[in-house]
Amino acid sequence: MNTTSSNVSTSRSDVDRRTKQKGAEDPSLRTPDGAPLAPPCAMIIFGAAGDLTKRLVVPALYNLVGTQRLPNEFRIVGVDLASKTTEEWRTGLTNTIQSFVGSDGESALDQLDNKAWQWLTDRMSYVQGDLNNAQTYKRLDDHLSELDKTAGTSGNRLFYLAIADRFFQVAVEGLGTAGLLAEKEGQWRRVIIEKPFGHDLASAKALNAAILKQLQEHQIYRIDHFLGKETVQNIMALRFANGLFEPMWNREHIDHVQITAAETVGVEQRGKFYEKTGALRDMVPNHVFQLLALTAMEPPISFEADAVRAKKAEVIQAIRPLDPARDAVRGQYDAGNVLGKAVRAYRQEPDVAPDSNTETYIACKLQIDNWRWAGVPFYLRTGKYLKRRVTEIAIRVHQAPFTLFRDTDVERMHPNWMILRIQPGEGIGLEFAAKRPGPTMKLSNVALDFAYEDYFKTAPNTGYETLIYDCMIGDATLFQRADNIEAGWAAVQPILDLWGNNLPSSLPNYTAGSDGPAAADELLARNGRAWRPLDLTNHR
Ligand code: BG6
Repeated sequence: MNTTSSNVSTSRSDVDRRTKQKGAEDPSLRTPDGAPLAPPCAMIIFGAAGDLTKRLVVPALYNLVGTQRLPNEFRIVGVDLASKTTEEWRTGLTNTIQSFVGSDGESALDQLDNKAWQWLTDRMSYVQGDLNNAQTYKRLDDHLSELDKTAGTSGNRLFYLAIADRFFQVAVEGLGTAGLLAEKEGQWRRVIIEKPFGHDLASAKALNAAILKQLQEHQIYRIDHFLGKETVQNIMALRFANGLFEPMWNREHIDHVQITAAETVGVEQRGKFYEKTGALRDMVPNHVFQLLALTAMEPPISFEADAVRAKKAEVIQAIRPLDPARDAVRGQYDAGNVLGKAVRAYRQEPDVAPDSNTETYIACKLQIDNWRWAGVPFYLRTGKYLKRRVTEIAIRVHQAPFTLFRDTDVERMHPNWMILRIQPGEGIGLEFAAKRPGPTMKLSNVALDFAYEDYFKTAPNTGYETLIYDCMIGDATLFQRADNIEAGWAAVQPILDLWGNNLPSSLPNYTAGSDGPAAADELLARNGRAWRPLDLTNHR
């Protein structure tokens, strides 16, 4: 069984190689799809009674049972302040699992696989405790040592911090002080840390510095669930496994790039969190920058975790400091109608101040100061309560010269777009002009469309499965290194500074259910460009 720990971050191929060397031709050490089985371990979820655990983490574990990635010697230990017995914790999760376990956390399953769920719940136990109290870690340590003996978890521990960010440091220090993070005799100790990782550059640096006193970088798995999405991972395959695209992937051929993460949900019950966070912090330095980094990075020399993460950090570090007064737009939704339903304004949401200046929308224009992208603007936008749910990267290719068509019926050239659709309607589209049948030269925009669902059958997925499994096998490729996080915050810091010091006069400035604020259109119109309308983007 593979229980190796190492001092450097490894990648899937690395783990695969190691497993092979250890005589893992033994099919019992492989999952049905040929991946290495996760090693024996205990996964300890801090925040076991919270929303994230119930909605995403436990459903992801259930899905991992379905794909047979977890070994017999796997145990889950829930830790939370709430006073519960193991039985009560299990029952609570059993009552909600069915509604969260479908694809993308959005659709419920018709039928729960009771055997798989039972397999998982049989492995659950609950430890009540306050993260500020040293006794909690002591009790946890005793419980985990017991599990090593009775369940064969081999001293390997994955601590999942599904807790409010103000507790990240407390929890890591508590674990460190209790000796729970020390890797000895081939046992590994890893910590998955949720977002938000800091709330600006200074706090992210301080958090990195504090946790690096307790952990080595190879033990830290800073999670960004966008990297668990297959379509996000596929950006690398598209770019680097095809001779077709890479030659045009630069300023010679690309006019500009639009990255959109538009949502049709509002802030729902998260007013308290969102008031402190806002759309910029919530989405841009993390999720949206992941899309940017994978789209714009240079080819790494291998899929080793550090090779990939170095290239990602490099491209984010190359973002030119922006002038936020000119290049960033904030928005906040007013009452409106989203997908046929009347919704209230942000300022009327629960736990939101009636005169709140928190943004629920941001658009900005970035320039990447390197050889490949000099002069190619990257426009980013993300917001709540917009017209359609669309996460995509739209790449606009330079226009062909009109010269040849001057004396024809063609009035204008159609733009060429390449669309990487992350969700929904996962796929890739190419839009170009074709001659309309008939005696004269007339053009129409047509599309080539690849949809994942036409080629691949995907297992139900919340996006967390790959990430949790990767952490268990020691593959950090899809996690954020300290420098990735800090580069992301550094790039948005000028916007945070300006917005923090200047109250906006015009909020709310977009109607819920619209394409966003007019000022975001002006951001592109200045250079003769326009956003792709949100309801244009999905072919399916
Ligand atoms: C989360 C944000 O990290 O990502 C949410 O906190 C947002 O506000 C969500 O809704 C978007 O993720 P997805 O997978 O639904 O696109």
